[in-house]
Amino acid sequence: LLVPSVLEIVKEKNFTTVPPRYLRSDQDKTETLDDSCLNSEIPVIDMQSLCSVSAMDTELKKLDLACQDWGFFQLVNHGIESSFLENLEREVQDFFNLPMEEKKKLWQRSGEFEGFGQVNIVSEDQKLDWGDMFILTTEPIQSRKSHLFSKLPPYFRETVERYSSEVKSIAKILFAKMASVLEVKPEEMEDLFGDVWQSIKINYYPPCPQPDQVIGLTPHSDAAGLTILLQVNQVEGLQIKKDNKWVVVKPLQNALVVNVGEILEIITNGRYRSIEHRVMVNSDKERLSVAMFHSPGKEIVIGPAKSLVDKHQQERLFKSMSTQEFFDAFFAQKLNGKSHLDLM
Ligand code: SIN
Ligand code: FE2
Repeated sequence: LLVPSVLEIVKEKNFTTVPPRYLRSDQDKTETLDDSCLNSEIPVIDMQSLCSVSAMDTELKKLDLACQDWGFFQLVNHGIESSFLENLEREVQDFFNLPMEEKKKLWQRSGEFEGFGQVNIVSEDQKLDWGDMFILTTEPIQSRKSHLFSKLPPYFRETVERYSSEVKSIAKILFAKMASVLEVKPEEMEDLFGDVWQSIKINYYPPCPQPDQVIGLTPHSDAAGLTILLQVNQVEGLQIKKDNKWVVVKPLQNALVVNVGEILEIITNGRYRSIEHRVMVNSDKERLSVAMFHSPGKEIVIGPAKSLVDKHQQERLFKSMSTQEFFDAFFAQKLNGKSHLDLM
């Protein structure tokens, strides 16, 4: 189903009020906390400590707790150059500001979800989110859609390639660290993922004159294994549900936001939690974000790690199915909190 570009709506000369399809009466009015409230700070994990001999144990414990209690953390000292990140931020902005004729060439084809467009749209009368997105599979390389890759502006394609490869290395280190703290053998963790399937989703949330009546991104939890997110220009908007309150993820300079997705929750048999989150929009500032998802290869059968289940003599909380089947089910419905896990 085709939906309008929100960026085009706000660019219209006489745009003053939000079209009805974006007005959300279903907005969750649960209290929102910012990080000035005690106990509402997302944990911060230092990647250098995680990889250093002397500090590793403490940092591993922090990582383990963050994934259990929050499902979210901010990653600092991740090794990606700040000048490169600044460049990426400029380029994603330019990319969304390309003339419509250029963007049309990169629009979703019917039945696919890569390119500019929307996802999880299942009916004509479904309420819409106040944002545009662009999605692209980046790994494995043979899964790249050449009709999209070849039409990216060359400078931007290069940036996306470098960024995705640097972020993939970070994801792999994090998976290995999680395996070590969970006492899952490194080979078992690698087999659980196979050839990592990575995709990028760039989000653009234009400013909105009625910010309290729209949602930038409907509450959902990520299908992926692990999501690594950049909040461009440190504009806030991301909120996560913690102890039944919405907590603002305050952007930290040079930090990446990492979160556990449903597949990692399944693999860890529920020990690591995929947390519901949403995006709220701003009345005067545009907001952009770059999310990179890391999941097992499409043919891999996902299910709880055998060694974890055996060691703790746990019941398997989730059925097994292939990554592809899991994603097909995810995209066949509207975003709605964590409901798709009930499929398992
Ligand atoms: C997402 O959840 O996919 C995007 C989050 C964000 O824009 O901060
Ligand atoms: Fe998400």
